[in-house]
Amino acid sequence: MKKIILTGDRPTGRLHLGHYVGSLKRRVELQNSGEFEKIFIMIADAQALTDNADNPDKIRDNIIEVALDYLSCGLDPSKSTIFIQSQIAELCELTFYYMNLVTVSRLQRNPTVKAEIQMRNFETSIPVGFFTYPISQASDITAFKATTVPVGEDQEPMIEQTREIVRKFNSVYGETLVEPDILLPDNAACLRLPGTDGKAKMSKSLGNCIYLSDTAEDVRKKIMSMFTDPGHIKVEDPGKIEGNTVFTYLDAFCRPEHFAEFWPEYSGLDELKGHYQRGGLGDVKVKKFLNSILQAELEPIRQRRKEFEKDIPGVYRMLKEGTEAAREVAAATLADVRKAMRINYFDDAELIASQAEKFGNQA
Ligand code: TRP
Repeated sequence: MKKIILTGDRPTGRLHLGHYVGSLKRRVELQNSGEFEKIFIMIADAQALTDNADNPDKIRDNIIEVALDYLSCGLDPSKSTIFIQSQIAELCELTFYYMNLVTVSRLQRNPTVKAEIQMRNFETSIPVGFFTYPISQASDITAFKATTVPVGEDQEPMIEQTREIVRKFNSVYGETLVEPDILLPDNAACLRLPGTDGKAKMSKSLGNCIYLSDTAEDVRKKIMSMFTDPGHIKVEDPGKIEGNTVFTYLDAFCRPEHFAEFWPEYSGLDELKGHYQRGGLGDVKVKKFLNSILQAELEPIRQRRKEFEKDIPGVYRMLKEGTEAAREVAAATLADVRKAMRINYFDDAELIASQAEKFGNQA
């Protein structure tokens, strides 16, 4: 079977390192691997509106930010179709049909929805659109017959719910849809990169993000004020690695060649960790090392962003072309879906002929 990728992001802000290690970096590798027949990258503005209905300008203004982040990370519109969710009406249509296949209690059990309801203090005043966004996400994935969805760990319940909808649809209406697989980051530290404050996750509302578009100086400052081990007060004190954000970031970003380049006194990360744990290694030194690594990773991204920023109309043209191409694919799937659901009345000559016969029309 041909392999197809679909993934995306909500345009509620610029993308940060959590997005980068959790998904974006991998997408670029997958794009360039040549293993995939088609790659769809969606800017999920309609999903972002499910909990930002009163703030449409926030979503509107962040479409270009996300598109610039994509391009500067190396997503290439000649290899990946980048498109805007809301412009594909077929996705709403598909969601409407899927809603008949999902129960309220199943949605209430979706762990991501549960956590997000709590985080946003929605309690019982959840917008229906927000509550049902897992169904809409199933439409995003299945409209493109995606086989592979590279996302962060927090999206696992969404993919599971999608798979259930696919199985239900196929069993009720006949084999039509493709059951997708999740593709998680392969490095544990990348699964859930904590914020610079050591809190569970990078999140704009917590102000603990390093953005891909931050200046070199911003990145340096954020690293220098990063959460480490609060018990590691004097350089001589033994330090903890677990829960130490600087080391979590090193686990996510550090490669052996970084030692050769920036810190040849150590042979590798294990030796560095050992020294820190024994005591005698100050946080500032480790932070400087992390800064060198992150600057090396982010500088080419920043440079490419500057180039793309010079032609904003060109970026919108790219999005429009991507959206048109994506819409054709979704429309073809919807034709299959309508046929399977027996609502393809006007395309079905047999239906019309048999009804004509039933009513005694002359042939
Ligand atoms: N829910 C995803 C996020 O929070 C965005 C998204 C919407 C998505 N539709 C998708 C991701 C389909 C993968 C597949 O970032």
